[in-house]
Amino acid sequence: MKNSKITHKITQGMYILTVPGGGCVVDAVSRVGGSGDQALVAVAVAKTNHSHKLLSENDKFALSVLGENADPELIQTFGFNSSKDIDKCAKCQTEEVAGVPVVKDSLGYMVFEKFDAIDNDTHTIYIGKLVEADVFDDKVTPMTYAYYQEHKDELTKTTTTQGKTAWVCTVCGYVYYGDEVPDDFICPLCGLGKAYFKKKED
Ligand SMILES: Cc1cc2nc3c(=O)[nH]c(=O)nc-3n(C[C@H](O)[C@H](O)[C@H](O)COP(=O)(O)O)c2cc1C
Repeated sequence: MKNSKITHKITQGMYILTVPGGGCVVDAVSRVGGSGDQALVAVAVAKTNHSHKLLSENDKFALSVLGENADPELIQTFGFNSSKDIDKCAKCQTEEVAGVPVVKDSLGYMVFEKFDAIDNDTHTIYIGKLVEADVFDDKVTPMTYAYYQEHKDELTKTTTTQGKTAWVCTVCGYVYYGDEVPDDFICPLCGLGKAYFKKKED
């Protein structure tokens, strides 16, 4: 492949996906039908994420829309840690809507009922039917994945809280913790190998 960075130019946003018990940062989100209160939205969730397990156990999930003013802590908490290890919702302000926590420090939220699911090798693409939604802020520009890529250094203050060295995927921002990235390691997000990982200097 000559240069997969062109995928950063696909116009998509940045969201916090939440389910009871946790959630994660997602950008692989697309409206795939309907609009307004009829919206059908697809989100691809990696099978390696704990959120995938939580999603399989719950009927509903939510997407909170991140703005360009999003607190980097939020991205750190939801994008670089696992709900298996920490209570992510306890680390930020949430509100419960239709039984699902949504993130208050966001531009607003959408709560979905699981409508369909498409299984592929690494991800399940969940399609949700909108059941509730609200706008908290319509002044701030929504954060796009391209914006995230441009500002990745400020937005990902990756720390080595797990007491290990952090290696950041230069393409998608995924963090591998460990002394060395194993030779056969494949980024669970973008599928690229060890060569794409850079040691995070604090
Ligand atoms: C910018 C960014 C975009 C991400 N997009 C996705 C995505 O679309 N789908 C996904 O499954 N994980 C995505 N992730 C990775 C998860 O947020 C991350 O692996 C998280 O730590 C999983 O947490 P969990 O184990 O609690 O589910 C993204 C992470 C970042 C930083």
